[in-house]
Amino acid sequence: MKFFVDTADVKEIRDLADLGLLDGVTTNPSLIAKSGRDFFEVVKEICDIVEGPVSAEVTATEYDKMLEEGRRLADLAGNVTVKVPLTLAGLKTCRTLSQAGIMVNVTLCFSAPQAIMAAKAGATFVSPFVGRLDDIGQDGMQLISDIVQIYNNYDAIRTEVLVASVRHPGHIVDAAKMGADVVTVPPNVLKALVHHPLTDKGLAAFLADWQKTGQTILGR
Ligand code: G3P
Repeated sequence: MKFFVDTADVKEIRDLADLGLLDGVTTNPSLIAKSGRDFFEVVKEICDIVEGPVSAEVTATEYDKMLEEGRRLADLAGNVTVKVPLTLAGLKTCRTLSQAGIMVNVTLCFSAPQAIMAAKAGATFVSPFVGRLDDIGQDGMQLISDIVQIYNNYDAIRTEVLVASVRHPGHIVDAAKMGADVVTVPPNVLKALVHHPLTDKGLAAFLADWQKTGQTILGR
């Protein structure tokens, strides 16, 4: 399963990329607003840091404008993935950009029928938002299970399931169990994945015992 980070914070992206744990980045208009920076500048900077796909979202709602925006974004770098909303205009834009060899992430997916349509439009990725479904009392991960099952029924479907709106490590474990292709995770959740109190406790005990030996590994 690939790990993308869901942020437009360049410092966070750089730190995670340095760890060698990053396969891509997703941004959205809200994350760009949160960064307080120029959209094109941030996207270009992220694309220089990360080799994998970097999602940048269009903000027009009509096909012609969406297409123009998508092309403009794709021109920024070879690894830009144009993000379009799951609307009829978004799907039409997806089809046109995909046919031109541009990666497309169809976002704001909340149902299996929508995911079928994204695949039909030739999306590189479909982004079902699990956390936002959980927030309204629905089962976000059940949607992932349904989409993975549907896509697996057809060899012709190449669209990757990109689990978005991830809120906690449990979402990521479930996504891996279900065979989702990608998870996009906020930086704090990504870091939380390695935490376990028994790891901290065990490490403290090992180091305390080691100190008693008076030895060092590097001082020989
Ligand atoms: O980038 C799309 C998605 O991951 C947003 O997540 O937490 O705003 O529901 P959230």
